[in-house]
Amino acid sequence: MARKRALITGITGQDGSYLAELLLGKGYEVHGVVRRASSFNTERLDGIYQDPHVPDRNLFLHYGDLSDSSMLVNLIHEVTPHEVYNLGAQSHVKVSFETPEYTADVSGLGSIRMLEALRAARSDARFYQASTSELFGSTPPPQCETTPFHPRSPYGVAKIYSYWATVNYRESYDMFAVNGILFNHESPRRGETFVTRKITRAVARIQAGLEDKLYMGNTAAIRDWGYAPEYVEGMWRMLQVDEPDDYLLATGVGATVQQFIDRAFARAGLDPADHVEIDPRYFRPAEVDYLLGDPTKASRQLGWTAQTHWDRLADIMVDADVQLLQDQLNGRLAIR
Ligand code: NAP
Ligand code: GDD
Repeated sequence: MARKRALITGITGQDGSYLAELLLGKGYEVHGVVRRASSFNTERLDGIYQDPHVPDRNLFLHYGDLSDSSMLVNLIHEVTPHEVYNLGAQSHVKVSFETPEYTADVSGLGSIRMLEALRAARSDARFYQASTSELFGSTPPPQCETTPFHPRSPYGVAKIYSYWATVNYRESYDMFAVNGILFNHESPRRGETFVTRKITRAVARIQAGLEDKLYMGNTAAIRDWGYAPEYVEGMWRMLQVDEPDDYLLATGVGATVQQFIDRAFARAGLDPADHVEIDPRYFRPAEVDYLLGDPTKASRQLGWTAQTHWDRLADIMVDADVQLLQDQLNGRLAIR
């Protein structure tokens, strides 16, 4: 059988890089959209080229942007993908308050541009939309696929547009278009300004004596944190079922930001009371207080279950950041 082709927007991000590895390992030809930047932004893909078990010759990168519809139209014609994973987004909730229009353009309209490109090409590609637990916002937990949405940020509002666009194209044009409503998922590749990575990176630097203080926002917020490599497997499974549907991925276990801090500092033999301070600069105009997912549907219908909960995740991330810093200090990698 001919090799399957997948197109990933957001391939340079945390999830895109793990998904590319997963699909290459499954024998796919993988195409990714990369934004032009003034310096290298494909660092998370470096492992693919260094791992002899991952067939990097099947990876193709294309310059592009979710704000550029003609580029997306041309790309769909060129690649003729079997599966499209729309992971590209301005994905930072706090930043979305400062860039609401840009966030709406990329994280909201970007999905319509891709869906229209598929429709115009009469493509029968299966489409995955990266939806989010931020859609639930202030609706109390536990949240499942039928829980009402009440987003609390420009990011959440943009993503709700993409959620309904995906449902609408499925219903209107009989497209195989699905939403993965994913709760927070993290890894050593997590962007440095998301809370878990901010904490584990600071722990490594404090332990090494490079820093002394960690300034935090609302540490009472509760999140359902899982491990990103497990979540990209769930994305893939959503596109392998017979009928398109929307699924939620979560661990079903929650913790406060403070609990994550305590665990991460303890892993490095540090006391957070000596180092953590609250800085109102990191508060948000509106907060999402409590996210806790019920992943029963994904478990029953996709056979997907999260294996790694927040406490083990904190250990994995601290260990990785300590090792990364050691490599940097030993001159094997540049310090950033
Ligand atoms: P991420 O690390 O922030 O990656 C976002 C990706 O989108 C990057 O590759 C980024 O490119 C790209 N991008 C940004 N603006 C773009 C534009 N204008 N055109 C094309 N690409 C653009 O995010 P992630 O954690 O991997 O998340 C992947 C997706 O899942 C996102 O849509 C996010 O909103 C959603 N999601 C994430 C979580 C989570 O907990 N991680 C949970 C639910 C949903 P650069 O590398 O050039 O910046
Ligand atoms: N980033 C950050 N920095 N968050 C902080 C800080 C801080 O210094 N201090 C406290 N927090 C709190 C935030 O207020 C929020 O309640 C929680 O930590 C998690 O923040 P983030 O890690 O930035 O993630 P998020 O939950 O807002 O959004 C992430 O998860 C969503 C899924 O629920 C992002 O990955 C989104 O793209 C994703 O959709």
